[in-house]
Amino acid sequence: MISFSHVYKTYRGNEGRENHALRNVHLEIEKGEFVFMTGPSGAGKTTLFRLLSAFDRPSSGRAVVNGYDISTIPARELPFFRRRIGVVFQDFRLLRDRSAFDNIALPLEILGERRIQIDRRVHESLESVGLLDKKDELPDQMSGGEQQRISIARALVHRPGLLIADEPTGNLDPAMSSEIMRLFERANAQGTTVFVATHDHTLVQSRAKRVIEIEAGQMRDANPTGDTWRSMTT
Ligand SMILES: Nc1ncnc2c1ncn2[C@@H]1O[C@H](COP(=O)(O)OP(=O)(O)OP(=O)(O)O)[C@@H](O)[C@H]1O
Ligand SMILES: [Mg+2]
Repeated sequence: MISFSHVYKTYRGNEGRENHALRNVHLEIEKGEFVFMTGPSGAGKTTLFRLLSAFDRPSSGRAVVNGYDISTIPARELPFFRRRIGVVFQDFRLLRDRSAFDNIALPLEILGERRIQIDRRVHESLESVGLLDKKDELPDQMSGGEQQRISIARALVHRPGLLIADEPTGNLDPAMSSEIMRLFERANAQGTTVFVATHDHTLVQSRAKRVIEIEAGQMRDANPTGDTWRSMTT
């Protein structure tokens, strides 16, 4: 599903100095996996996710997602590529002038689904995150945890094969963070590959999942207690 080899993402700073946000990254994630990524601020987590969703391209190396080479994917193919991916952001990124219902409906509208189908799917989706009673509320009328659950419903409503979540619980209390993880685990049980970046070590340690550590653009597999067991960079 995800196959990176020798991937670099390099930014040129002042005076032409190179900053490798990603440095010789090798990464293999199979269909159906649930993977956490941990690493300090500036390590390259968001940079990696921007490549995975083809919002950015690698500077060098080979990055393949769902059979598409991110370096060469033509603009006209991007809608087909993106419909198989769901993205969750730390700051939700809901449209402020649209209700919860209409935010979740958006990906289906973009795909050109029929209205009756959209209504049914959005209802199911609101129910699955426990927020059917909030369907007509605007984002500003909801708590942070509620907004994040709406954004997760939006990311999953078109049933993507891959869900990537960039610090989805960064602003939430422990109970809400666990609830968010349960939603991800349920999506994973239904076949969606899940890749979550987080700073929250208690979330990671209480679950026996694959953990990838990233630091200064370099990546390696670790076990859930944080001990490195296999070097992913060569
Ligand atoms: N558009 C850009 N132009 C130049 N440098 C960038 C750009 N985006 C990211 N960087 C640099 O790349 C490195 C990795 O940034 P990134 O945003 O991926 O980190 P992160 O792991 O997501 O951090 P955080 O936990 O704070 O979100 C940083 O050194 C950052 O300054
Ligand atoms: Mg980030």
